[in-house]
Amino acid sequence: MTKKILILPGDGIGQEVTASAKEVLDFLIAEHNLDFSIEEMDAGGTAYDKFGSPLPEKVLAKAKESDAILFGAVGGPKWDDLDWDNRPEQALLSLRKELELFANLRPAFLFNELAAASPIKNHIIENLDILIVRELTGGIYFGEPRAIVEDENPPYAFNTMVYNENEIKRIAKVAFESAQKRGGKLCSVEKANVLEVSKFWRSIVSDMAKDYPDVELSHQLADNTAMQLVLNPNQYDVIVSSNLFGDILSDIAATLSGSIGMLPSASLNSSSQGMYEPCHGSAPDIAGMDVANPIAMIASLGMALKYSLDQKELSDSIDRAIKEFIAKGYRTKDISTNDEYVKTSEVASILIGILKNG
Ligand code: IPM
Ligand code: MG
Repeated sequence: MTKKILILPGDGIGQEVTASAKEVLDFLIAEHNLDFSIEEMDAGGTAYDKFGSPLPEKVLAKAKESDAILFGAVGGPKWDDLDWDNRPEQALLSLRKELELFANLRPAFLFNELAAASPIKNHIIENLDILIVRELTGGIYFGEPRAIVEDENPPYAFNTMVYNENEIKRIAKVAFESAQKRGGKLCSVEKANVLEVSKFWRSIVSDMAKDYPDVELSHQLADNTAMQLVLNPNQYDVIVSSNLFGDILSDIAATLSGSIGMLPSASLNSSSQGMYEPCHGSAPDIAGMDVANPIAMIASLGMALKYSLDQKELSDSIDRAIKEFIAKGYRTKDISTNDEYVKTSEVASILIGILKNG
């Protein structure tokens, strides 16, 4: 069966980094005779400019029938004043919700060669390798009711942080299973000292632990985790958290590695359909300058090959090629410590060269 891939470059450097990932993908398809079809469509501000919507109906329809979506990045100052429903971020939020991509895997790891780029002291950060499993379709991001109430005195606003048992169980299952495949440790993060929804979360995750005797489960409060991630990040293997806390913690984790341009992510549903995006944003300040780091996007393609496209070995080969790229001393501008760097448009062909020899 042909595997369908939809590329949504989006805005800003999303365009450049997805072009690099496509170059690698085209190479793999030709080299290994893969039965993949590729389509490319607009999303985010770019789609709004052309079609008046950040996620036109036909793009959403195409996404629903795709096996993997490679998503660049969305947003930029140009669209900052649009009303709520038309903001570029809505493309992302709608795709997550409509495709039920509840499991967001955000690895944060350090290539030791790049330790100098981290804001954290080397001995603390060396060998960093953690996975944040963030719930992505529930919690306060989507909870109802929600509103800004202007016509009362004083005006007020509210959101609802809500999780039902099934939502907690399905994300915790992904996290427990990820821990089993990695270092066997899982830390569940919430605010059980303050929030009912967190207390409920903690009791459900605790109950599930008996089904995973090989996983060492711990619980932490989110504010403490924010601190511990900076003080002693290597205490973690897998972290599981809700939509909001996972959003915040994954930004901290990404910053640790000093190179947000290196980190991929996957958002999966229960039928191994997935959306794959770099952790970085659209970086409008450097868009079009051929200096963005496309490695996070290419590593996201690697995750797509593993989780949605049944090509685990090719996924591993991409990871190895990226390691070798770094080991050989190639640096994009964001991770270069001198004036020399490779341009965005040069990265894919260097990686392809490595893959050919690998
Ligand atoms: C992320 C981003 C999004 C989020 C924004 C752009 C809506 O911060 O993917 O982490 O908050 O989930
Ligand atoms: Mg975020």
